[in-house]
Amino acid sequence: MPKRKHKPISTLHERRRMTDTTFSPARLHWSSRLMFVFAASGSAVGLGNIWKFPYIVGENGGGAFVLMYLGCLIGLGAPLLIGEIMVGRRGGEFPASAFLKVAREKAMSSAWGGLGALGAVIAIMILAFYSVVSGWVGIYTLDFAAAALGGDAARTGADAFSAMLADPIVQLSAVTVIALTAGLVIYFDVTGGIQSVMRIVAPLFAVLLVVMLVMVASTTGKLGEAMTYMFRPDFSALSLDAFGEALGHAFFTLSVGMCGMLIYGAYLDDGANVPRLGFAVAILDTAIAFAAALIIFPIVFAFELESNGGPGLLFIALPQGFSLLPAGDLLGFGFFTATLLAAFSSLIALMIIARHWLDETFRIGGQNATLAATLATWVGGIAVTLSMTVWDSISIFGRSLFDFLDEATSAWLLPISGLGMAIFVSRAIVPTLPDGPVKTYLDICLSYVAPLGILIFTVSKLLDL
Ligand code: TRP
Repeated sequence: MPKRKHKPISTLHERRRMTDTTFSPARLHWSSRLMFVFAASGSAVGLGNIWKFPYIVGENGGGAFVLMYLGCLIGLGAPLLIGEIMVGRRGGEFPASAFLKVAREKAMSSAWGGLGALGAVIAIMILAFYSVVSGWVGIYTLDFAAAALGGDAARTGADAFSAMLADPIVQLSAVTVIALTAGLVIYFDVTGGIQSVMRIVAPLFAVLLVVMLVMVASTTGKLGEAMTYMFRPDFSALSLDAFGEALGHAFFTLSVGMCGMLIYGAYLDDGANVPRLGFAVAILDTAIAFAAALIIFPIVFAFELESNGGPGLLFIALPQGFSLLPAGDLLGFGFFTATLLAAFSSLIALMIIARHWLDETFRIGGQNATLAATLATWVGGIAVTLSMTVWDSISIFGRSLFDFLDEATSAWLLPISGLGMAIFVSRAIVPTLPDGPVKTYLDICLSYVAPLGILIFTVSKLLDL
C-alpha cells in the first residue's frame, strides 16, 4: 500500500488528536464509559448469540463444546477484543489509518494498514447475510405480534419457514426497512445515534430476556435439563471440527477481527481501563448467549424438538415450541423482539465499519459514506435474497451465496485477520503496557495461544478441503 496516499488522513488525524486535550468537538466521545459498554455489547450481542450459539451447541453435543468455546473466549477472543480497542484508542477511528499510525510509531511496516481493509471487507460480506437474517427476525416478530393481537396464527413449522424463504418480496422489503433504519441512526452523528438507540435497547433487551427465561422455565419445567445439557461435558463429543466452530464463533460473537471494536475504542477517553471494559463486554456477551440457550433448550426438550438441526432451530423448532406453550404468541413476540433489537444494534456496528472505511479510502465525507454503506448493505441483502429465491441455481464453490459468505468469513477471513491483529498487538501495543498480570495475560494469549490456535484451525480446514 503506497504510503503517500494515506498521509493526508493521518495528518487530519493528528490534528484531531491534538485538539483532544482541549475537548474540541472535532473528536467524538462516548458520553460515559458505561455508554461504551452498552455500545460495544450492542455490537457483540447479536444473531451470533441468539441464533448461532444455541444451534452450534446443539450440533456439537452440548457441554464439552461449551467448555471449548469458553476456552477460546478466554484464550483468544477477549485478549483480541482488548487489543483491538487499544489500537483504536491509539490510532483513531479510521481502521486502516489506525493500524498505519500505530505501525509508524513503532517503525513497523505500513503493510499492517491492510488489516483495516481486510476487516472492512469482512464486515461488508457479513452485512450481506446478516441483514437478510435480521429481516427474517423482523418478519417473525411482526407475525407473532399479529397473532398475539388475535390475527392469523404465527409462522410455525418447516413449511412456513420455507415459504418465507421462497418469497423474495417479503424478504426484500424486510432488508430494505432494516438497512434504511440502521443507516438513518448513524447518518447524523455516529456516537450520538448509537447512544440514543442503546439507551432504549439495552434495558428493554435485558427485561425481555429475564422475563423470557422465567416464563419459559416455569411453563416448561425443563430448565434443569437444559442446564445439565449445557454444562455437563461429554468429552467424547470433542473434535477438531468442534474446536474450529468454537474458535470461529469466539471471533464472530465478540465482533473482533473486523475493526468494529477498534472504532468504538477510538471514542473512549484516554483514562479508560481498557482491559476491564473489554472483559465486561466479553462477560456480558457470554452471559447473554447462555441465557438465550437456556430459553431455547427447555422449549426444545419439553416438546422433543430437533436441537441439532442447525440454523432452523430459531426459525422452525422454536416457533413450534411457542405454539404449544400457554400465551405462546406473546412469548414468541417477546423473544423475537429481543432478537431483533440485538440484531439491529450489531447491524449498526457493522455498517459503521463500512462507513468509516469507505470514508477514509474514498474521502467522501461521513454522510456520503453512510449512504454508501447503507447501499452496500442493501445491495448485499438483495443479492443474498435473490440467490435463495430466483437465482437459486447459481452456486459459488458448490455453495449458495449465503453459505459461501458465512463460511468464507467465519472459517477463513476472520481467523486470518485475527491472526494478523494478534501479532500486531503483541508487537506494537503489549510492550508499551505497564508490567503486571494484564500484560502477561495479553502477551501469552496474543503471542502464543492465538497464533497456535488459529494455525491448528487453519491447517485442519486445509486438510479438510
Ligand atoms: N457479534 C455479532 C453477533 O454475534 C456479529 C458481528 C460479527 C458483528 N462481526 C461484527 C457485529 C462486527 C458488529 C461488528 O451477532
